[in-house]
Amino acid sequence: SGPATVTPTGQDSGTAAERVAQGGPYLTTAQGNRLYDTDHSLKAGPRGPILLQDHHLREKITHFDHERIPERVVHARGAAAHGYFKGYGTAGNITKAAFLAKDVTTPVFVRFSTVLGSRGSADTVRDTRGFATKFYTSEGTFDLVGNNIPVFFIQDAIKFPDVIHAGKPHPDREIPQAQSAHDTFWDFVSLHTEATHHTLWNMSDRGIPRSYRMMEGFGIHTFRLVNDRDETTLVKFHWKPKLGIHSQVWEEAQLAGGVDPDFHRRDLADAIEAGAYPQWELGVQIFPDTEEQMFEGIDLLDSTNIVPEELAPVHPIGLLTLNANPSNYFAETEQVAFHPGHLVPGIDITDDPLLAGRLFSYLDTQISRLGGPNFAQLPINRTHAPVNDMLRDGMHQTAVHQGVAPYRPNSLDGGCPFLAGAAEGAYIEVPVVVPAGRKVRQAPETFADHFSQPRRFWLSMSAVEREHIIAAYTFELGKCYEQAIKERNLLSLARIDPELCRRVAAGLGLPAPQSPDDLPAVSASPALSQLGKTWPLD
Ligand code: HEM
Repeated sequence: SGPATVTPTGQDSGTAAERVAQGGPYLTTAQGNRLYDTDHSLKAGPRGPILLQDHHLREKITHFDHERIPERVVHARGAAAHGYFKGYGTAGNITKAAFLAKDVTTPVFVRFSTVLGSRGSADTVRDTRGFATKFYTSEGTFDLVGNNIPVFFIQDAIKFPDVIHAGKPHPDREIPQAQSAHDTFWDFVSLHTEATHHTLWNMSDRGIPRSYRMMEGFGIHTFRLVNDRDETTLVKFHWKPKLGIHSQVWEEAQLAGGVDPDFHRRDLADAIEAGAYPQWELGVQIFPDTEEQMFEGIDLLDSTNIVPEELAPVHPIGLLTLNANPSNYFAETEQVAFHPGHLVPGIDITDDPLLAGRLFSYLDTQISRLGGPNFAQLPINRTHAPVNDMLRDGMHQTAVHQGVAPYRPNSLDGGCPFLAGAAEGAYIEVPVVVPAGRKVRQAPETFADHFSQPRRFWLSMSAVEREHIIAAYTFELGKCYEQAIKERNLLSLARIDPELCRRVAAGLGLPAPQSPDDLPAVSASPALSQLGKTWPLD
């Protein structure tokens, strides 16, 4: 499977055979046989029965019958754009990744999404947004598969099917499409209290962004960077939108969703078409790579935690510009396959148990979503680096591999490519020491505090932002049928803040449970407030 390029405009510049011409003076069958009529089936006389021997009829309808592929099990609804990323060179001390070097320009494809709705759902719902970036680097593809909220619902990937089952529409009535307003979701988050932090972000204005162009993005997990001296650093990735962070207010989101459910995808496509190219600065928070992988008492392997920017500022390392719309939604936005394990030399993973499960899940789901193991050959998924693998055959294989010996070393096809120096430029796993211990199904003690960070978030909000959060909880919990579920969620709110709990309880017409006397003693983090947030990137 040799390299082929996808230009930033999404045009496949592969071979003529790979391109499917859609033009010319006459139609043909898929076999290239010229057709003289595509509007009438072959019949035994104008009023007679249709003949099974009509190949064109059978081919046309059979192909149509198979036009749809399964939608993504999560993040089914999305919109995407092409663009480029330019490194500032400021990360040279901490990573050898070539695409981050000064002025290196790398083509990218970015797909934004909602998480829970189906492919035809509205853009404007209260939900987390996906922010997935594919960097076609000279050293192979790097995918940064993030969200617009810096924390996740769960700490261990084994709960991912559970949280998604709770968030998807009820199995009996198939309602609703949004994350909000139903019993299973609120049941789950009150019983798995590590979800409190993410849920609070969802109930804030972050859950109803004004535009994909005005969202932050986060890699969430802690990653390990490696420089050319083999020194390692832990980092969290951040995307900062040049246009600042903006949200809708709830009433606005409701109206926009009713009038134009395609509000966000239209906004993105229109802006790019008009030449108003959205931009984000990529930045990293940097932490020393210690054995404990903690920073200021925060467990860096717990994806329900942030590290406040006051404690670890975000250092800018490059600029992303989106400047071209896809030319074919299916070929590009639908068939693109991101994977958090697509890494390049200089960027490695950590032992975050949420990330570990993702490393398995994406490839597995894509084998069924994209019909077999060869989807890396689809134009949008092709790497821009040369490929020389020993992967062979399989459904939808389009490469015509040469040679007879797809194994190494061999004595038939030119021997062994692992010559001296092969490690140069290769992806090398960092030989970090892993903690030895007894096999257990158990979270570390440092994963146990589920309320300090939500409390910090709440305390960081302005008065207006707090009103929005109170209104959101009141509205969404008000849609639950089971009183016990509402009450259990009020208990969680009481552990965040007495005022938040009291106001939501009043809105629901329920008594407010007492907040514990020992609420976490945390301070506000001004960087978390969204009001008036812009970054002077120029
Ligand atoms: C899809 C983000 C956790 C399984 C996605 C997408 C994003 C994303 C942005 C959409 C990619 C696209 O646009 O094509 C995240 C983030 C996570 C997280 C930021 C936590 C930090 C998980 C976990 C699992 C998982 C824990 C499973 C154990 C999936 C699957 C898809 C998906 C199966 C569909 C992929 C496809 O069909 O191509 N995720 N996710 N995710 N995610 Fe996650």
